Amino acid sequence: MNKFVGISLTLVIVAVFVSKVVGLECYVCENQEDNNEKCVKTIKTCEYNQDVCLTEIKWGSTPYWSQGAKKQYYVSKRCSNKTECAATRQRYMPVCTHIWYLDWVCSDCCQGDRCNYYIINGSMNIKPTVGILGISILLLLLK
Ligand SMILES: *[C@@H]1O[C@H](CO)[C@@H](O)[C@H](O)[C@H]1NC(C)=O
Ligand SMILES: *[C@@H]1O[C@H](CO)[C@@H](O)[C@H](O)[C@H]1NC(C)=O
Repeated sequence: MNKFVGISLTLVIVAVFVSKVVGLECYVCENQEDNNEKCVKTIKTCEYNQDVCLTEIKWGSTPYWSQGAKKQYYVSKRCSNKTECAATRQRYMPVCTHIWYLDWVCSDCCQGDRCNYYIINGSMNIKPTVGILGISILLLLLK
């Protein structure tokens, strides 16, 4: 092994070690109206036992969810761990309707530094179904 390779390897190992110690980075924000400003600019280094980024998106009226009032998005992002995040997502599943005239809330988890930049949004829930439909039709046509 020559000197250059040796130094490079050492640097890689140090980098990996440092990134493990420093921890996961997530975007964080609390009840913002949209996925701009704070929600895409505030980055937090998570605690050592937090391994996922959590995104929460609510649709409802201000300040309390009340009938007939003007509705808006509330975007929140934070550090979490797999257990807590999965539980949150599970809890919101029944109310994650994306129906505009109802109040709803959805949550999602992701792994990797700053992985919660983009938020889950209404249209994303439809795509997989459309995809499966498309494949089914294609398969029918190919028969
Ligand atoms: C979700 O998508 C719709 C349509 O593309 C957009 O109008 C809305 O602002 C998005 N929601 C958020 C919270 O960005
Ligand atoms: C996950 O986070 C929750 C809330 O902060 C905490 O109570 C729980 O002990 C954590 N679980 C693990 C496995 O770290």
